[in-house]
Amino acid sequence: MKYYIQTLGCAMNYSDTERVSSMLEKLGYEKTETPEDADIYIFNTCSIRQKGEDRVYGQYQNVAGWKKSNPRLLIGITGCMVRNTSTKNTERENQDHLLKLLDQLDFVFRINDTHKLGEVLSEAEPRLEIPELEEGGLNDYLRVKPKYQVAHQAFVPIQIGCDKYCTYCIVPYARGREKSRPMQDIIAECTDLVEKGCKEITLVGQTVNSYGKSVLDEQDGQFAHLKDPFVSLLEELDKLTEKGLNRLRFTSPHPRDYNENLIEAHARLQCLTPHFHLPIQAGDDQMLQKMNRQYTFEKYKKLIDKIREILPEASVTTDIIVGFCGETDEQFENTVKAYNNVRWDMAYLARYSPRKGTVSWKAFKDDVSREKKAERWHKLNKLLEACSREYNESMTGKTLEVLVEKFDNETGLAEGKSRENKIVQFPGAPDLIGHVVNVKITNALTWTLKGEKIS
Ligand code: 5AD
Ligand code: SF4
Repeated sequence: MKYYIQTLGCAMNYSDTERVSSMLEKLGYEKTETPEDADIYIFNTCSIRQKGEDRVYGQYQNVAGWKKSNPRLLIGITGCMVRNTSTKNTERENQDHLLKLLDQLDFVFRINDTHKLGEVLSEAEPRLEIPELEEGGLNDYLRVKPKYQVAHQAFVPIQIGCDKYCTYCIVPYARGREKSRPMQDIIAECTDLVEKGCKEITLVGQTVNSYGKSVLDEQDGQFAHLKDPFVSLLEELDKLTEKGLNRLRFTSPHPRDYNENLIEAHARLQCLTPHFHLPIQAGDDQMLQKMNRQYTFEKYKKLIDKIREILPEASVTTDIIVGFCGETDEQFENTVKAYNNVRWDMAYLARYSPRKGTVSWKAFKDDVSREKKAERWHKLNKLLEACSREYNESMTGKTLEVLVEKFDNETGLAEGKSRENKIVQFPGAPDLIGHVVNVKITNALTWTLKGEKIS
């Protein structure tokens, strides 16, 4: 019996897929690289924008068609599109909306229910022989030991959910209340990874730097003795440098929870990388307030100034939404001014997409036209290209440490990322994959750095 998982969306989803894979393997399934051969096809979905959901609906139609030639095929959905773990055999009033909408869909599960996947499959297809898994240890989905995609890099989740309720965002509804994973579980997972040769770990969560500080964390008290649980976690993980960990990253933090202590940790801790991804979303204070971001541009800029005072060459990146409800030309121009002021070297630009159930969907009008959103997006994208190139040019002549991720046989180029998270290409060899090498940068393009390996 074979499975195939199609993953869409963010780092958290990629990390979750590794846990779903391992759960399916415990249940006796084997991974296939050929989707048409699968007996179970799962979509791990993203709901951040309508575009992501539309992709799932489109591809579902395709996969549903395969049932004609393979009636055994079970189709499932997990990730942010699912509200309610259920199957085609659950009573209709308790079924998720997706089961009502898609008639060939067999089961859906909230990602937090991954450890219950065996029960879900048995309900969806009672004829399946699902082995009983041993009790204990698997009562929490993050305790499912993941099946990592590669040996030298890994995503490690440190929290679930989000309590911030930005008015445009579906995540708090899709992923539920924020709760941090016990520190000893994270340290154990990371230690095991590093002992097996992992060189780069990225800690993932919706607002990683509020680790240990959510309402549910405060209620259970396990972090009560720590002043700054996130920095304490980073300090503990930095000790893995001795065992071979080369770099520690995290994504995504929230500007509201960023403090000097954390910025200083970047300079102090050996494996923490000089890359700061700080989503701003808008440069206009009224928009920020309407988005419920709980900071002003001035406050955000103070963080950036501090970062650049301590680590002047660090990469500073962001997320921006254009065309949020009621955004005037003047308010958008404040975002342009903010861009010119901060000059982020990379930014993920999104056009506002209303999400059913969010505050902005209920209370505000999506009144910026599609054309205006496109126009604003292109204007910012031009600025982004210029700033990315400017940063890359400042790297020319420098020697950067690159963790090699791939090799292209046709061009003979090896490719990896610098500690600043920049793509670097250089003439190399396939056996460099997974190794850290020094590369002298000779040429800067908009999105890529070119260089030569130095021994
Ligand atoms: N519309 C457009 N972009 C969104 N994001 C989150 N919700 C929406 C939405 N409704 C963007 C934000 C966030 C990133 C992950 O996705 O910029 O930081
Ligand atoms: Fe969404 Fe805001 Fe939470 Fe980020 S902090 S996941 S944007 S609600």
